[in-house]
Amino acid sequence: MARITPFPGSKDRSDSLKAESGQVPLRQASLNLTVRMRRNRKADWARRLVRENTLTADDLIWPIFIIEGTGIRTPIASMPGVERVSIDEAVKDAARAAALGIPALALFPYTEPGLRDPDGSEALSPDNLVCRACRAIKATTPQIGLITDVALDPYTSHGHDGLLDGHTILNDETVDVLCAQAINQARAGSDVIAPSDMMDGRVAAIRAALDEAGFLDVQIMAYAAKYASAFYGPFRDAIGTNATLVGDKRTYQMDPANTEEAMREVALDLDEGADMVMVKPGMPYLDIVRRTKETFGVPTFAYQVSGEYAMIKAAAMNGWLDGEKAMMESLLAFKRAGADGILTYFAPFVAEKLKA
Ligand code: PBG
Repeated sequence: MARITPFPGSKDRSDSLKAESGQVPLRQASLNLTVRMRRNRKADWARRLVRENTLTADDLIWPIFIIEGTGIRTPIASMPGVERVSIDEAVKDAARAAALGIPALALFPYTEPGLRDPDGSEALSPDNLVCRACRAIKATTPQIGLITDVALDPYTSHGHDGLLDGHTILNDETVDVLCAQAINQARAGSDVIAPSDMMDGRVAAIRAALDEAGFLDVQIMAYAAKYASAFYGPFRDAIGTNATLVGDKRTYQMDPANTEEAMREVALDLDEGADMVMVKPGMPYLDIVRRTKETFGVPTFAYQVSGEYAMIKAAAMNGWLDGEKAMMESLLAFKRAGADGILTYFAPFVAEKLKA
């Protein structure tokens, strides 16, 4: 192809503002380019036409923190914009979510300190916060999906997800309790059981227990690749386990250095009967989301955790970035990585923005 000489005095060749508004007159090219990637970006309509991924309200799962009382909305300092809400307020949030087209909520309890014990026995009470919240929401907004965490940390006095023997977190004994917790939640109306403790053999055991109790249609969303992460800090404030947690969770949650191990974890949970799998945290682990989706082709979710939310909020509140744009971009990134949906504290704000 003939090299075209630049035409003189044309400092203003890439007039993108003009390109937005109308056709630019023919000009001579100084670069001999067959392909100009910018053609497909020249205007909003063109960018929309070639857009590969979109974020919709259908992609969102809204995690909600439940606290005892009535008419209560307590702010969480490390998660600006997020509150612990009493059950009557959670019922309102559920109605708001349904109106916004958000498919599902994930419920997390702030258990009164006096109800926490070494065995997490409150997890098995049919009248614990999560069970009461499930019943109240199902009575008023039955069309919304309810996802409940199965793990003992909101209920134990030591803040660990399982039973302890000295400093050892017991695997098999804990799994028995998790089965009872799952049935307790299913009876209260939970649609999706989400085992979140990274213990071994729990998905198979919970599936069998649910089936035996007649809950054949209750789904399991496995926290399949959940890492021992520093990004859970604000969540532990929210459910009040930061103060009590003894040591860390590295003997059950995954080492942030590992990828192959995540593939084994996901494969195991699927073999054991998981309907959906989740990767957590989200943004720092998008490589795991992508690989999970590509390898297994199953419904794959990602959890944009409390620390990720806090980072974006803190920077926005300092005026260091545009919070709304960063929120939308971060969530679109999950879709690009292959996630079918995202658990995010931004859910109602995103859904509102998408509706506007
Ligand atoms: C409990 C659980 C945690 C999160 C969800 N379920 C915390 C943890 O494992 O310590 C974290 C969510 C977040 O940080 O937003 N098993």
